[in-house]
Amino acid sequence: MSKKLYIKTWGCQMNVYDSQKMADVLAPLGYAPVDAPEGADLMILNTCHIREKATEKVFSDLGRLRDHKEAKAEQGEKALIAVAGCVAQAEGPVILQRAKYVDMVFGPQTYHRLPEMILSANGGERVVNTDFPVESKFDNLPASTTQGPSAMLSVQEGCDKFCTFCVVPYTRGAEYSRPVQQILDEAKKSVEQGAKEVMLLGQNVNAFHGEGEGGSWDLARLIDALAQINGLARIRYMTSHPSDMNDALIDAHGSIAKLMPFLHLPVQSGSDRILDLMNRKHTAAQYIDIIARVKKQRPDIALSSDFIVGFPGETDEDHAATVEMVKQIGFASCYSFKYSPRPGTPGAVMGGIVPEAVKDTRLHELQAILFAQQSEFNQRSVGKMMQVLFDRKGDKDGQLLGKSPWNQSVYVTAPERLYGEMVDVTIEKAFQNGMAGTIATTETTTKTPSQKKEAA
Ligand code: SAH
Ligand code: SF4
Ligand code: F3S
Repeated sequence: MSKKLYIKTWGCQMNVYDSQKMADVLAPLGYAPVDAPEGADLMILNTCHIREKATEKVFSDLGRLRDHKEAKAEQGEKALIAVAGCVAQAEGPVILQRAKYVDMVFGPQTYHRLPEMILSANGGERVVNTDFPVESKFDNLPASTTQGPSAMLSVQEGCDKFCTFCVVPYTRGAEYSRPVQQILDEAKKSVEQGAKEVMLLGQNVNAFHGEGEGGSWDLARLIDALAQINGLARIRYMTSHPSDMNDALIDAHGSIAKLMPFLHLPVQSGSDRILDLMNRKHTAAQYIDIIARVKKQRPDIALSSDFIVGFPGETDEDHAATVEMVKQIGFASCYSFKYSPRPGTPGAVMGGIVPEAVKDTRLHELQAILFAQQSEFNQRSVGKMMQVLFDRKGDKDGQLLGKSPWNQSVYVTAPERLYGEMVDVTIEKAFQNGMAGTIATTETTTKTPSQKKEAA
């Protein structure tokens, strides 16, 4: 009989990818994913530690899972509760101490060891595993089960940058790049299973330096090799660091048609003083120069970034510099956050704490501009025809959701058989977070009018 596996995922896309991998590892043991914790035999919280309240959210969820575990026990059955991800890595022993009903706590580099950990937990042991094992989990995880039209593919993990606000170097460990062949094989497999797009993932994806034919490959070379895969139509990557944006990668945006015109390149602040305090290793002018060079290669590129307001020492002038930079560049979409001190990071002990109310005001001001830019960017698409890859089913019946080349969400009333297809859509309406359109043709990938035009 199959066992029920419930996984709840927070945080970045690497966590989403990891959750899929955990499900893949557990499938041969008879675990089948379910959407709710009721009656589950194994409940995993895959957690994120990037901003505060992360731990509290985990504990409040754990309380609910405990009820399910007890309900199961009343029926004479055993259910296991596990905490995985970056909170587990950072606070493993604390979790076990505070929540006696938690059976397993394990960090992001240990997922390939899940079967043995479950065996121990079923034997009554409380498992804690926050090692950074010598063997790579990627060498020991099974091939993906189907991921749908847009497949995530972790190519790099960890970080050696040590930005002073960030926990990632501590929770994910040192930078590691997967070998090229392993990545190409996984991409081919995803395409065989119906994927038309791959999203290359890494905390510092453009620092990629995986071993390939003839030595170490950079991300541009990897993208070029992936672009040779028949049936793969779209390639994306995230998240990048400005100082790893090398010439080859910038050129790739002009020369590799399958590389989508979207770049998520977090800058965090527009003030050189704050960038220095953050240990970002580049200036505002250098960032603007990178953007200009990318735009030269790909004038229509959609730009995206992350911002932190209220980093210790941030003055009104520093904030004004961020606002100025945003106005100068013009972004298609962005994430913006109030600075949140993280235990163990240098930022947490820096002087010049910015009051919460000031952070609120700054965030509000910045977001008003970013949201307006996003709406304007989407508005410019109205009336245009573009290829949309339908990768999700909409909330309403008969509705499909997809992605434009510029990473915009597009809602369309469309028959379900178009799920997984790339279809020309005429954009009718734009909103801040997406667009609505109508099908311009029902022909698929190889024959769409826009591609015919490109070929002509
Ligand atoms: N590797 C990426 C992003 C990692 S975390 C990079 O180098 O930019 C994702 C985003 O969370 C960051 O870009 C940053 O904007 C935000 N973030 C990270 N730590 C934070 C903190 N302590 N407080 C607020 N936001 C934070
Ligand atoms: Fe965190 Fe900086 Fe590394 Fe990004 S580059 S993961 S923000 S330390
Ligand atoms: Fe969060 Fe860890 Fe990702 S802290 S953002 S889940 S790397």
